[in-house]
Amino acid sequence: MNNQESVQRHREKRAVMLQGGGEKRVKAQHEKGKLTARERIDLLLDSGTFIEHQPYIMVRSTDFGMDKKKFPGDGVVSGSGKVNSRQVFLFAQDFTVLGGSLGEMHAERIAEVQMLAAKNGTPFIQINDSGGARIQEGILSLHGYGKIFKANAISSGVVPQFSLILGPCAGGAVYSPAITDFTLMVDGVSNMYITGPEVIKAVTGEEISHEALGGAQAHCVNSGNAHFRFKSEQELMIFLRKLLSYLPSNNLELPPVSDTGDPADRETPDLLHLLPDQPKKPYDIRDFISEIFDRNSFLEVHAEYAANVVVGFAKLNGRTVGIFANQPKVLAAVLDINSADKAARFLRFCDAFNIPIISLVDVPGFLPGISQEHGGIIRHGAKILYAIAEATVPKISLIIRKAYGGAYIAMASKALGYDRVLAYPTAEIAVMGAEGAANIIFRRDIKAAENPEQKKQEKIAEFKETVMTPFIAAGYGMVDDIIEPKYSRIELIRSLEMNIRKREDRPSKKHGNIPL
Ligand code: HXC
Repeated sequence: MNNQESVQRHREKRAVMLQGGGEKRVKAQHEKGKLTARERIDLLLDSGTFIEHQPYIMVRSTDFGMDKKKFPGDGVVSGSGKVNSRQVFLFAQDFTVLGGSLGEMHAERIAEVQMLAAKNGTPFIQINDSGGARIQEGILSLHGYGKIFKANAISSGVVPQFSLILGPCAGGAVYSPAITDFTLMVDGVSNMYITGPEVIKAVTGEEISHEALGGAQAHCVNSGNAHFRFKSEQELMIFLRKLLSYLPSNNLELPPVSDTGDPADRETPDLLHLLPDQPKKPYDIRDFISEIFDRNSFLEVHAEYAANVVVGFAKLNGRTVGIFANQPKVLAAVLDINSADKAARFLRFCDAFNIPIISLVDVPGFLPGISQEHGGIIRHGAKILYAIAEATVPKISLIIRKAYGGAYIAMASKALGYDRVLAYPTAEIAVMGAEGAANIIFRRDIKAAENPEQKKQEKIAEFKETVMTPFIAAGYGMVDDIIEPKYSRIELIRSLEMNIRKREDRPSKKHGNIPL
């Protein structure tokens, strides 16, 4: 073979590789409303930046006649590229080749880009569309998963990791996305489950469709396994590009600062009117978020799960911050098991990637109830305390209204580690609400009174004035300042800027043991 022929052979082989499973299977993929692996990569990356890694990898297994057929790329396309001009490593499973199933060499290809992402300190993005462990390759396939899970775990907190579920993701395959930081799904396209509907029917007799069991809604609303859902793959990719623009590439970098065009001295007078005069009247904390933070910069995380807390990224004077807020509109903003899990995981992401935390506080406490107690609210609630205490990023808290009990400590306590705590004049800070407190400590007085109801109201008022006003907390230095709602944005920017160079050490240890 002369040189020209060698080059020609290379071209032919590459052309075959680029076709994936061939025209018929690509058509079938499109008919299912799905893009191919290469189309997905092109959609996500800046145009022309994709560099494929190890494209010639092939199956080593010879069982079941595997050596007699060609499996381009071994069912996965991997490599590096740029998003918003910043480098990422990624892979996309190719369902048109052996159903994207994961065999030995497929796993090797994935592990290679995982390692490169960690070594280069770039975000890692995986696009899952696979029938799971390649049945023909048995233990080699399971070994491959083990390798991937380990790389996911070791990269955790080093580079941001994203899972895009764009097809089936079944069996043990789901554990890689579960270890990554954010999981994104598309309605009607994505499915995740440990065992599918057929197995469930055989074992428990329950009947359910693939979509209802493991679709985007099931995981974004019910299980909390996924963080974002979209109507189309295009929409998902646009969002992911935006999300990446808020984040640093790795744990040693600071998040990018952008010019959002929103003035740092903008007052927020509407907040006074958004906050109802009646303490029990609900309102939407997201209205506060959009007023305070840079216009249109809020990216809510886990929006449909445990909506009694709101978490997400926003820009404050161009800097990325992580918001941890109570939502009075849902369950009167109490903290419960699911919201504690949601908040703690988000807070730990922020801390790992140098993103300051801002708490917006209006919380009556942790949810009472047998199911919460027996479900482990003690352990789950402790996750927030642990995450805040552990975090060394700047931590700022703004108490809007209620800050009671353990929930106050979690969201606004300087003792736990908040660097600056601000409060509105409307703040109520106490061990518990005034009515409950009066019923306990003034029970005898109330019972003995001629008009017990009138006495109770008097005692409630007395309790509020004696222990609950922000002036008392500020007198102890536990609230740094009391601010008017119209200065919320200005004061939070000032608080952030004054703490942005913060350094805080912790004793060296192997790792902590967060209550899981
Ligand atoms: C080998 C597989 C495969 C697999 C699919 N294929 N899954 N090959 N190993 N796990 C092949 C099919 O044989 C078929 O090849 C092609 O991929 C497309 O699959 P279809 O079934 O035609 O596609 P569709 O109808 O869309 O159904 C997709 C599917 C289904 C729902 C994913 O293929 C399926 O149920 N697959 C098995 C899923 C599964 O049980 N996986 C193992 C999970 S356990 P041909 O050549 O016929 O077109 C697991 C343990 C991992 O993963 C543990 C790790 C810790």
